[in-house]
Amino acid sequence: MKYRYHHVGMLSTDVDRAADLYCEHFGHEIGPRAELPMFGDVQFVRATADVPLGLVSPPLESLPAELTSKGIGVAYLALSVDDLDEAVAGLSEKGATVAWDPSSTSIGTTAGLFCGLYDLLVVLVQPDQDLQAQLTPVGKVGPLRFHHIAVITRDLGGVVHMFKDLFGFRVLAEWVEHGSGEIKIVDADYSDPDHYFLIEVLNPPQVAPSDLAVLERRGTSFHHLSYIADDVAAAYHQLVDDGVTPSEDPIYYEQIGAAVSFLWDPDDNAIEVYRYDDESVISPALLAGAA
Ligand SMILES: [Fe+2]
Repeated sequence: MKYRYHHVGMLSTDVDRAADLYCEHFGHEIGPRAELPMFGDVQFVRATADVPLGLVSPPLESLPAELTSKGIGVAYLALSVDDLDEAVAGLSEKGATVAWDPSSTSIGTTAGLFCGLYDLLVVLVQPDQDLQAQLTPVGKVGPLRFHHIAVITRDLGGVVHMFKDLFGFRVLAEWVEHGSGEIKIVDADYSDPDHYFLIEVLNPPQVAPSDLAVLERRGTSFHHLSYIADDVAAAYHQLVDDGVTPSEDPIYYEQIGAAVSFLWDPDDNAIEVYRYDDESVISPALLAGAA
């Protein structure tokens, strides 16, 4: 069974405001809006890769507790599969907890599962092809490319093992010392540019202050969204000049050879803008060459 990144689900206090921010400043484009069982009103926002955002509307009280347990922010990661029933059965056997059973929606058939011990909600989607056609990548038109979401945790190895064991993901790059650091993991279809997307698993102390605060509040959870910039300082200062709320000015991290900065979206989600000195450390070409 192949599991492929499908979309990043975020609970928002105002989806129109959030969609405007991501479209105006971060290179996204508006996508379809759908009323979905379990999720309510969802605004999809297409991305530079084929992994859009799914912005879930309030009121949160009307949504299932499984979806709202971490509060506002990145609530789930959606993965597509070819056979949902088979995937749910296989994952249940491996210890995943079924949050809700397969049900039909306008994006296809979906089911919710909690992975392992950490209440990380993964939504499985067997996509509807008509809707899928409306979620195509927008291509890169500005200086930013949507690239990853972070999982913050105090159990780096456990979370990475979980994604490898349950979904067959693989480690692309890692910077780990004494059990702490960051590991980047990808699905089998990782490719540039159409499916250039990954998960970054982080644990303290190698996390930004904003990430640490969220870890303490939400526990192991999906958190910051990240964009690769052509020029981090220029992109960051342009975003701030354009009214996006700054969080952390660009800093250069010697260990990983990257410049990193953070901003906030209107729902207090951290948005990372970064660039590697040598992008080949995360490049699909390198991965293919190493395989
Ligand atoms: Fe990141």
